[in-house]
Amino acid sequence: MSKIIGVIAGSLRKESFSKKIANGLLSMAPEGVEFKIIPIDELPIYNQDFDDHHNVPAAYVTFRNAIQSLHGVIFVTPEHNRSIPAVLKNALDVGSRPYGKSVWNGKPAAVFSNSPGNIGGFGANHHLRQCLVFLNIPVMQQPEVYIQKSHELFDDAGNLKEGERKEFIAKAVGAYIDWANKNA
Ligand code: FNR
Repeated sequence: MSKIIGVIAGSLRKESFSKKIANGLLSMAPEGVEFKIIPIDELPIYNQDFDDHHNVPAAYVTFRNAIQSLHGVIFVTPEHNRSIPAVLKNALDVGSRPYGKSVWNGKPAAVFSNSPGNIGGFGANHHLRQCLVFLNIPVMQQPEVYIQKSHELFDDAGNLKEGERKEFIAKAVGAYIDWANKNA
C-alpha cells in the first residue's frame, strides 16, 4: 500500500502559483508514495460553536478525515503581509479541533513558501513553522524552500518548466521523503 502525502496549497485563487506548484509536485512522488492534493477552499471559517454544539460542517468532517489518513504533509504557502494567508491558517485551525483531537499530531511536514517577489515568502515560511510547533508537526529543516519569482516558473499550460528551479524543487521533495521516512 502506498504512503499518502498530502499537498496543501494556501491560496484560493484559480490561477494561484501555489496551486500550480502543488500540482507540479504530484508527479514527483517516488515509488510507494502517492501525493494527494488536499483542498481547503470550501472550509468555513473556524467557529468553536460548530464543535461545541454538534453542528460540524460536512467540509470539516471531510477535511479532518483526509488529514487523519495521511502519512505526512507538504505545505505550499504564499505570503500575505509577511505571514501565512488566512485560508491556510483556517485549515490549520479546523484540523486542530475539537480540543485533544487534532488530526495534525505527529504528521511529518515540509514547508515550501513562494512569492513572485525576491524573498520567496520567507515570512510566511517561518510564521507557518511557529504554528506547526504548537500542532506537534515535525518539520524538515533542510533544505529550506523559499521559491522566489514564482510567476516565472510555469509554461503556458501552467506546468513547472524544466530546468534548475524544477530540479531544486524535486531535490527538496526527495529530501523530504527521506527525512519523513525516518521521522514518521
Ligand atoms: C500579497 N503578496 C505578498 N507577497 C509577498 O512576497 N509578501 C507579502 O507579504 C505579500 N502580501 C500580500 C498580501 C495580500 C493580501 C495579497 C493578496 C498578496 C503577493 C503574493 O505573493 C501574490 O499575490 C501571490 O501570487 C499569491 O500567491 P498565489 O495566490 O499565486 O498562490
